[in-house]
Amino acid sequence: MSNSQYINGFSKLSNSEKISIIVSRTNIAIEQFNVLNQFKLQNTEIQKQLDEISENVVSNYMLPFSIAPNFMVNGKAYFVPMVIEESSVVAAASAAAKFWFNRGGFVAKVISTIKIGQVHFNWLGNSKQLKSEFENIKERLIASSSHLLENMRRRNGGIVDIELIDFTNKLENYYQVRVKFETADAMGANIINSVLEEMAQALKQYFFEHFSDAESEYDIVMAILSNHTPESIVECYVECDIDDLAEISGELSPMEYAQKFKLAVDIANIDIYRATTHNKGIYNGVDAVVLATGNDFRAVEACGHSYAARNGHYKSLTTVDIDKGKFRYALRIPMALGTVGGLTNLHPLAKLSLDILGKPSAKELMAIVAAAGLANTFSAVRALTTSGIQKGHMRFHLNNILSSLNATNEQKERAEEYFKNRKVSHKSVQEFLGS
Ligand code: MEV
Repeated sequence: MSNSQYINGFSKLSNSEKISIIVSRTNIAIEQFNVLNQFKLQNTEIQKQLDEISENVVSNYMLPFSIAPNFMVNGKAYFVPMVIEESSVVAAASAAAKFWFNRGGFVAKVISTIKIGQVHFNWLGNSKQLKSEFENIKERLIASSSHLLENMRRRNGGIVDIELIDFTNKLENYYQVRVKFETADAMGANIINSVLEEMAQALKQYFFEHFSDAESEYDIVMAILSNHTPESIVECYVECDIDDLAEISGELSPMEYAQKFKLAVDIANIDIYRATTHNKGIYNGVDAVVLATGNDFRAVEACGHSYAARNGHYKSLTTVDIDKGKFRYALRIPMALGTVGGLTNLHPLAKLSLDILGKPSAKELMAIVAAAGLANTFSAVRALTTSGIQKGHMRFHLNNILSSLNATNEQKERAEEYFKNRKVSHKSVQEFLGS
């Protein structure tokens, strides 16, 4: 089959047919695909569940599932499940969690769990008339989607507000219906989208019934939730006496160290290059827990970065305060999480993660995830302002190089000792193994 021809009906093919097509169009030997079977589960029932999560599933892509112990969040100790490929993240989270365990732990407060959805439309008719009708339109929109929100209402959620936004000064004829939802323990993406699509139909119907020539005066562009969730916020901090930093301040006095730490974070407040890396250090922890609990890490990241740039200047999501002998490191982060629905009870490991966390509510999970983010950035900034990041990374880097060179356990042990005070590189490890 020629490569310039597109493939029709790929999803309908069996797995071996799918592989045959790939083989016929690439230089990959069919034997190379045997690895797919090695990553399939023996348990066919669970494998079937996983196969049904996405389209064209040919195997499972495994990532390490780890546990970070000693997380004290709002006075409760947690084992935090983390799924992440970066070697040092779980160690960094665990080290920070242990450091703060007896120093008051992580204190977290969820400000709100409000999510936003939008119906985007063009209206060519009279703007005043549209605005004056909006109370009636609103009622119609609420009635149209009421049947979809029964479950959400049972969990004390539902529609909180609906407003009409006139964007015509920025985009000719463009308006938007912005709907606020309280989604309670669900992340809510599916239900919000269903409600919005129902509302879009109801809006169209309303225009049709109430405005003459309506067909030519409006156009529904789209209906979709927004991942910008600036109200669905959690605040989390750690705080201790500055003298209590002596354990980690190295050659600096605790106050000098606190100031250096603050400077590192202040830099991330004024410089986008540092801010992006700094926030990435937060998302190392955040994403790992979000992924472990079957939540949408792209949504969580997207809203975090738009929130970081909400004032037109991308900056750090954390701040440091040094006041009255206290050091406080605080994170303010938006996130949309669920503990019911979606993958949370479909994926066996997501379900286990939530069980390990004690079946938290969405708000409790937000607090834990924020704590993981704060823990990771704390460890990162701590390392950066003391020994440098490579020292901690190198232990894992060394192990990865050794594994890639098929080193034995005995060689690994010797290497760990040998490289304690030597530079790790692929070449130096190769030379060590050859010696
Ligand atoms: C690496 O994954 C994360 C860091 O770059 C974060 C930071 O620089 O703050 C170490």
